[in-house]
Amino acid sequence: MSPEPSHNPAIEVYGLEDRTFPPPVEVACDALVTGNELHEEAETDYEGFWARQAGDLLTWHREWDTILEWDLPYARWFVGGRLNAAENCVDRHVAAGQGDKVAFHWEGEPGDTRTLTYADLQIEVCRFANVLKGLGVTKGDRVAIYLPMIPELPVAMLACARLGAPHSVVFGGFSSESLAGRIDDAEAKVLVTADGGWRRGKAVPLKDNADVALATTPSIEHVVVVRRTGEDVAMTEGRDQWYHDLVEGASADCPAEPMDAEDLLYLLYTSGTTARPKGIMHTTGGYLTQVAFTHKYVFDLHAHTDVYWCAADIGWVTGHSYIVYGPLVNGATSVMYEGSPDHPGRDRWWDIIERYKVSILYTAPTAVRTFMKWGTAEPAAHDLSSLRVLGSVGEPINPEAWMWYRQHIGGGTCPVVDTWWQTETGAIMISPLPGATTTKPGSATFPLPGVAAEVVDDAGQTVTQGGGYLTLTRPWPSMLRGIYGDPERYQETYWSRFEGRYFAGDGARIDDDGYFWLLGRVDDVMNVSGHRVSTAEVESALVDHPGVAESAVVGAKDEVTGQAIVAFVTLKGEQEASDGLGQELRRHVATKIGPTARPKTVIFTDDLPKTRSGKIMRRLLRDVAEGRDLGDTTTLADPAVVEEIRRRATEAPSED
Ligand code: PRX
Repeated sequence: MSPEPSHNPAIEVYGLEDRTFPPPVEVACDALVTGNELHEEAETDYEGFWARQAGDLLTWHREWDTILEWDLPYARWFVGGRLNAAENCVDRHVAAGQGDKVAFHWEGEPGDTRTLTYADLQIEVCRFANVLKGLGVTKGDRVAIYLPMIPELPVAMLACARLGAPHSVVFGGFSSESLAGRIDDAEAKVLVTADGGWRRGKAVPLKDNADVALATTPSIEHVVVVRRTGEDVAMTEGRDQWYHDLVEGASADCPAEPMDAEDLLYLLYTSGTTARPKGIMHTTGGYLTQVAFTHKYVFDLHAHTDVYWCAADIGWVTGHSYIVYGPLVNGATSVMYEGSPDHPGRDRWWDIIERYKVSILYTAPTAVRTFMKWGTAEPAAHDLSSLRVLGSVGEPINPEAWMWYRQHIGGGTCPVVDTWWQTETGAIMISPLPGATTTKPGSATFPLPGVAAEVVDDAGQTVTQGGGYLTLTRPWPSMLRGIYGDPERYQETYWSRFEGRYFAGDGARIDDDGYFWLLGRVDDVMNVSGHRVSTAEVESALVDHPGVAESAVVGAKDEVTGQAIVAFVTLKGEQEASDGLGQELRRHVATKIGPTARPKTVIFTDDLPKTRSGKIMRRLLRDVAEGRDLGDTTTLADPAVVEEIRRRATEAPSED
């Protein structure tokens, strides 16, 4: 057995978990997969396996010449094939007589609703594609999208895809500065935004944020603004136009651009170990193949009867792959919800599930833990019997949350599929299949058919039982094709730690039965409520404040959010530590990056513990942070903490 990696922060002690749950008869009797057949087929010929999926699940203008060209770390899938993503998501379903089928049951936070059939979607997408064309967008141009969870968001993405213009969706919770950085990196030509969106009964001022960003984004020529909240917003003459005005006069006829399988479909920025977010590149043919495959088989989708709801935000990869592309390629009927789970009451989700008879729910452990805290009365007061499969994504799900989810949401029978993947993988990689896999609470179980994952030790030796680093050992169709504008960083970040392997940044353990247990990040990336936040990014935002000399940020265990951000801060000479300054720093980070990155706790210290080479000893800080009762506050300069840090810094072995 190999040892656990020395700095691997296990988020939960999983070792004692021995409950197992075979697929329930009600699901297995009608499931798409009940045995090992897909795994076996894929192991015999994995390229052929993916090619069969590409052919079965997608419609191509031209078939590919070669399934895979692999020149590590660059993969090209379905080389020579041509297709259009929007056509695969929309037009072909209408052409097949499914135009009246509901694509989205959309619900706004205030309670307003819209139903979009596939035929409606086709009209909206074509019209907006013509609008973009009219604004000068052509194949290859980048379009930034900064919208709330309203139907115009998937419409705008698909309109871009129709023209072959890669989109870059920026989560509505990001700050002006984050938006500006992403627009500039991609040199986007057009920005699509809204006056605002609804969140907990309040209007989030997206256009105001965008206006601040637009002061430093020279590449933007036009801004299209959706009216959502009706708040007053400034419109800059010659640059800003209302979405409804533009769409009104636009034709609903817009031929789709046949794209190369390897043409860029979108960029999505994600945090890494440095302060600068990475523009993850996803292309067309391979990405669509794997998102459609996984959406169909991981959720055991019966497209004619299921009502599927992924409760993520489209601003994250989960929404790209499992609200937009996967479900639409598969012709599914989805629920899409704009707002927060506690508005107007804490039963909003259960009310939605009951009313739309949702049968598949896909959410994050942090949401499950929040519901656990709110108690069982809310879900118990609703009829949730339509549910048949429950999914989890974004962070390790602790066995208690898994059991609660299954019991109180899934009526004690629904299989729970814990799905491991990343922005970079594009699609689910490790997960049970609900009709075939015996699950264990807290384990993502096994790599999916066609996926090869291995755990290795520090030296890169394969670990067949025990802990280590999670790696992927061969290319997969939806893998990232690079980091936009930075090939060296791509090679360095993912392909240099272990020769010939993609290193995911996660620790994992394999148990005696070969089950994979994900243990969380082993690098300097935190996971807060399933959202990736880089320690370096938060540190850089903190030292940007004029009073801060130095900072070190760590993720400490948190019952609800998985990890909470704890910032250790040393101040410049003249600055006095105070509660007020702590609050100001927390606000400062939220303004620089976005509310997700706001430190939960700021701890002022005179010194930061460092190795002889000047590297901050994060592990020690994490221990200190986790040893404390963390409040949602500032911790004032506390001699005991400083003393503790000093004492431990002198005692701890060097991490050089
Ligand atoms: O640490 C893993 C964690 O989330 C990271 C990827 O974050 P992101 O790119 O934002 O994508 C999130 C949605 C796919 C991973 O490196 N993670 C994701 N899913 C799981 C998980 N950790 C444990 N179990 C999971 N099911």
